[in-house]
Amino acid sequence: MKLETEILQADHGGYGRACAILVSGGLVSLPTETVYGLGGDARNDRAVARIFEAKGRPQFNPLIVHVPSAEVAKTYVEWSHEAEVLASAFWPGAMTLVLPIRSDAGISPLVSAGLSTLAIRVPAHPVAQELLEQFGGPVAAPSANPSGRISPTTAAHVLAGLNGRIEAVLDGGACDVGLESTIIGLADDAILLRPGGVPAEVIEAALQMKLRHHAEGAQLSAPGQMTSHYAPGAAVRLNAEVRMTGELMIGFGDVDCDLNLSAASDLTEAAANLFHHLHALDAKGATGIAVSPIPEVGLGLAINDRLRRAAAPRD
Ligand code: TXA
Ligand code: MG
Repeated sequence: MKLETEILQADHGGYGRACAILVSGGLVSLPTETVYGLGGDARNDRAVARIFEAKGRPQFNPLIVHVPSAEVAKTYVEWSHEAEVLASAFWPGAMTLVLPIRSDAGISPLVSAGLSTLAIRVPAHPVAQELLEQFGGPVAAPSANPSGRISPTTAAHVLAGLNGRIEAVLDGGACDVGLESTIIGLADDAILLRPGGVPAEVIEAALQMKLRHHAEGAQLSAPGQMTSHYAPGAAVRLNAEVRMTGELMIGFGDVDCDLNLSAASDLTEAAANLFHHLHALDAKGATGIAVSPIPEVGLGLAINDRLRRAAAPRD
């Protein structure tokens, strides 16, 4: 999809246009104090699928959700004493908390790639704050760079990588911190998942405890690859042409199936439906789930990566 990417100023008209784009499921790059984010409505499956498409990511790495305040954050995640301590000390700011997602959160499962946790942050940048206030919903945003490229700290960097792939960039000048947020996992014991804008020692001082550090050399950026990652209870069989006895089928294209990722063979629609369909058939108590072949192009790479993990032998 080739778009005319608009450059919006941080003024009345610019915020209004940015909100209208987000409401319609479009993508807006927004400045934060760390780096520019590539934002879409976190409740909109299709908008979230388009974030992955625009970045050209071959995998569904989970995304950070941005909200205007800790009060709003509490409506999406299970809050804890540690979360309160860290949010009071460092929000708004360059720190992201990973907490169990609330069952009533209404966030697209694609945002956290099917995990039961959600990464959430209250950015301090006044332009991000104003946009989040005016939009009034959660904004999923990875750094606004194509996969494998460095994170953007100006609107010009964003355009250099994503011009024609997103609806707009909201220009808020250069980012102060220039380094991504520090990610703290609080779903189990406190763990430093990614070093970033707020030094780990400062966070440890606030918590009055040491953080567990993510194993040296482990791939920080890809919790989607951890064995704890969501996998359906049912055995998953890929590249299936038809259902076998006892199986339910997830189709793609013009096929006979129980749930279709996209009857029109649209990969963005398929990505938007992927986790919903896996969960739905799993909840039906299927012993086996057959899945149609998905073309290995564009978002098909990420879809197939996720399906291969779901189909892999369990430990
Ligand atoms: O400063 C930042 O954090 C920027 C701005 C835009 O907020 N965002 C950013 O997003 O750096 P991204 O997508 O480039 O990195 C998000 C990181 C990834 O390493 C991802 O694996 C991790 O957050 N992450 C997201 N959800 C997670 C979860 N539920 N559990 C563990 N890690 C998670
Ligand atoms: Mg990034």
